[in-house]
Amino acid sequence: MTPPAGARRDPAPRPAAGHKAARAVTRRWSPDHETRLYLAAHPVAYPLMRLLARLGPVVRVPGVGVVVNDAAAARAVLLDERFRKDGPGSPGDLWTPVLGPSVLLNMEGEAHAALRRRLAPLFAPAQVASLVSQVLQAPLAALSARLARGDTVDLVDEMRLMAGAVICRLIGMGEVSPDDARALFADGERIVSMVSLRSRRLSARQISAAREVLDRVGAIAAAAYARGEETTVMGRMRSLGLSEAEARGAAGAFFLTGTETVATFVPRLVALLHDAGVRPDGPEHLDRAIEEAMRVTTPTPVMLRSVAAPARVGRVPVRPGDRVLIATHNCARAYGPFDPARTHPQELRRLWFGAGPHFCIGYPLALAETRAVAGVVLSAHVRVVGRKAARGVLIPTYHHLWIRAVPP
Ligand code: HEM
Repeated sequence: MTPPAGARRDPAPRPAAGHKAARAVTRRWSPDHETRLYLAAHPVAYPLMRLLARLGPVVRVPGVGVVVNDAAAARAVLLDERFRKDGPGSPGDLWTPVLGPSVLLNMEGEAHAALRRRLAPLFAPAQVASLVSQVLQAPLAALSARLARGDTVDLVDEMRLMAGAVICRLIGMGEVSPDDARALFADGERIVSMVSLRSRRLSARQISAAREVLDRVGAIAAAAYARGEETTVMGRMRSLGLSEAEARGAAGAFFLTGTETVATFVPRLVALLHDAGVRPDGPEHLDRAIEEAMRVTTPTPVMLRSVAAPARVGRVPVRPGDRVLIATHNCARAYGPFDPARTHPQELRRLWFGAGPHFCIGYPLALAETRAVAGVVLSAHVRVVGRKAARGVLIPTYHHLWIRAVPP
């Protein structure tokens, strides 16, 4: 497959900064590829968001809320129970109408902690490693063969298929065909794209469209729950003592949070490494590159909280009903451009997966999927030979990223 006309063809990786040619080229500002992705996804909101970063660590913005641009202030909010996910202006406002009231990401307090405790064993590293190796074995072998043949591969399409297949299995489907996985991915993408960086609520029409898809996801989950097989995630939820309603809700939450985030990240990681001319040697180096690419890309660029009691965010006083918007992307980008050798200070540590009681429960799964695919792609010595940014999406991403293996 060759990139079609109109797609941006990629030159060889840029020379390292400091090189004479690089200095001459960078004199006229031209956005790097990551910035282009953000601009394509959010042509108006992204420049505004970056502008806010210059106004201070915490800024009150009329109509938006209290915006946090600083990693330490963001972490303090995430660890403080006065900032909640179930009040006005919180993610609960967006997702409760479609997912129901008890799906982790709109819960607080003891009920939230109890559900997390029950779900945690499903995401233990050994558990997710076995899920990923079972589901991705065949697609990764096929990808590896295509790269070895010298084919040009669209890594975006491959990731949609693979991340879709992992979530299909997680929510209780048995054998998953590539078409099922792609279709499920596209369904999830349609729902997530209903949200913009400024959305507070979904419209009635959006809620009913989202419910239609989530009812199908719920039905698959409920059937797997009823079968109760210990080898499926839904079956294990049943044996862990979760009710059918809880298992359905969890399936919907995993579907919405765990598909696009991973699928969009892996092509961005591969592109960043290509553009920096870096090829990780060994798992430790790859893990560092993954964390640094997470920092630069921040697949979930903002987090929302609703203020439940008077408090301060940095120096800004807040009162009940205020909305706090953590601009994770601004917090993370304050530390500079992509550099896989960078160490992350304590306040920044994995902020892109949240912090405190709502820290991403799917983190081990996201890492296992990323490691598995990146391992195969990078060991094939690939180059990016073409790319196209996606428009009209919530999570900035490539619409296509064409890669081809080059002999070492
Ligand atoms: C690159 C991949 C991913 C990123 C960047 C990411 C990011 C995040 C972030 C930032 C939060 C916290 C939001 C907040 O506090 O407001 C979160 C929560 C969550 N994530 Fe992920 N996530 C990823 C993959 C996954 C996967 C694969 C799954 C599971 C299938 C998943 C399931 C969840 C769930 C259920 C929550 C809610 C947890 C709670 O509220 O207790 N995520 N994620």
